[in-house]
Amino acid sequence: MTVSKLLTTLLAPFVLLLPLVVSPAWAETRLPLMTVYKSPSCGCCGDWITHMKQNGFEVKVQDTHNLNPIKMKAGLTPEIASCHTAFVDGYVVEGHVPASDVKRMLTERPAIKGLSAPGMPVGSPGMEMGDRVDPYDVVSFDEEGSVKVYRSYR
Ligand code: CU
Ligand code: CU
Repeated sequence: MTVSKLLTTLLAPFVLLLPLVVSPAWAETRLPLMTVYKSPSCGCCGDWITHMKQNGFEVKVQDTHNLNPIKMKAGLTPEIASCHTAFVDGYVVEGHVPASDVKRMLTERPAIKGLSAPGMPVGSPGMEMGDRVDPYDVVSFDEEGSVKVYRSYR
């Protein structure tokens, strides 16, 4: 057996496995398009959009001065509202929700309307202020208005 033939024989199983190794459930290129509605003057919204892009999301930005009708249509009450409202693959993402939680929702596909990080928690993605990190919850909300903790950051 020649050296090259030997190498081919030894490496063949790894070459076959390669696509499995480099293609996790949510390969970056396969993340669905996200549309973000925000006020044109919102700086932290832009920082959150950068965070989502850095985590593989393709983001379409819609600037608007009238977010309230969009939030109402999304099923968001004032208690769980934040600055921007995003839509991705049939789900709502409100405010500074970390990309990892959005990816988990898109993978597990729970029966909820979406996720929110109510208010503007300091230390959440796009809300960085030096070393300060305030505890906050990412919550899920559904059609019936039930709000549950999806992930706690504290
Ligand atoms: Cu914000
Ligand atoms: Cu925002």
